[in-house]
Amino acid sequence: MNEVTRVIETNGVQIKLHLGDCVAGMREHLSDGCVDVVVTSPPYNLGINYNGYNDAISREHYLGWMGDWAQETKRVLSDDGSLFLNIGSKPTDPLVPFQILRVMNQYFALQNVIHWVKSIAIMKSEVGDYPGITQDIVVGHYKPINSGRFLNDCHEYIFHFTKHAKTPLDRLAVGVPYQDKTNVSRWANNGADLHCRGNTWFIPYETIKSRDKERPHPATFPVELPKRCIRLHGVDRARLVIDPFLGIGSSAIAACSLNLPFVGFETTPEYFEESCRRVEKFLSGQSGELVFL
Ligand SMILES: C[S@@+](CC[C@H](N)C(=O)[O-])C[C@H]1O[C@@H](n2cnc3c(N)ncnc32)[C@H](O)[C@@H]1O
Repeated sequence: MNEVTRVIETNGVQIKLHLGDCVAGMREHLSDGCVDVVVTSPPYNLGINYNGYNDAISREHYLGWMGDWAQETKRVLSDDGSLFLNIGSKPTDPLVPFQILRVMNQYFALQNVIHWVKSIAIMKSEVGDYPGITQDIVVGHYKPINSGRFLNDCHEYIFHFTKHAKTPLDRLAVGVPYQDKTNVSRWANNGADLHCRGNTWFIPYETIKSRDKERPHPATFPVELPKRCIRLHGVDRARLVIDPFLGIGSSAIAACSLNLPFVGFETTPEYFEESCRRVEKFLSGQSGELVFL
């Protein structure tokens, strides 16, 4: 494949998108330890219908390839950098995230496990007399599964890997306000009404605006997901953000929105073009957010 590189400059910050394989690309374009945040979602090998990528290779081959990718990522990651790895599964193959975890653990320490909650049901009767909750709440979107055996799959993992499990985090950058305001003065946050959000992150897909538009990619995450990961790592400590599996550029848009330099790799020309288009659209002031289910 001929490598194509698109460089987009904004506010003195460079967004570099490469059409090509991420392992070869990282080897060629990224020096040792130059990356502070990797936020990515590789193919899960669940038979998803990608445009050009075979998502149903043998499990052995797949896990071996995950190791190749992890090794190169370790080389480019700084000593106190963060790798946020988003992995999902499917009901008939729920082990994939854990198999990947074992491979990744040969290269990285698992510092946090975050659950990306796509949809949640909160029953009024279960929370009792709670301020603001006046009725049953069912929010978010997921792909319904028609099955007598399996539950609808409403979450994915975000494994937070680091080199030594000692990477400092900016927990309050993604913090949430106290429900009980008497806690504001009780805890030492300089009087800020903010505390750690915890490891269950409700991030819904963007709402549908146009049902007749064709889905440009079968497996994206919302821009808010990489954005929250980068902010948790600490924007001040993020010299360079990368996504080895760019897809249609959700992480690139997240980095742009935080004014951070970014490098991405994608092997499928259509997805690569779409990511360039979305970043440019985002920078021109129009939203680059996806609007489909
Ligand atoms: C799960 S998708 C990522 C979606 C992305 N997070 C988004 O929101 O658009 C994984 C992507 O990796 C790409 N890919 C597969 N093998 C690759 C490789 N060796 N190097 C770079 N990209 C690859 C696939 O074409 C696919 O678009």
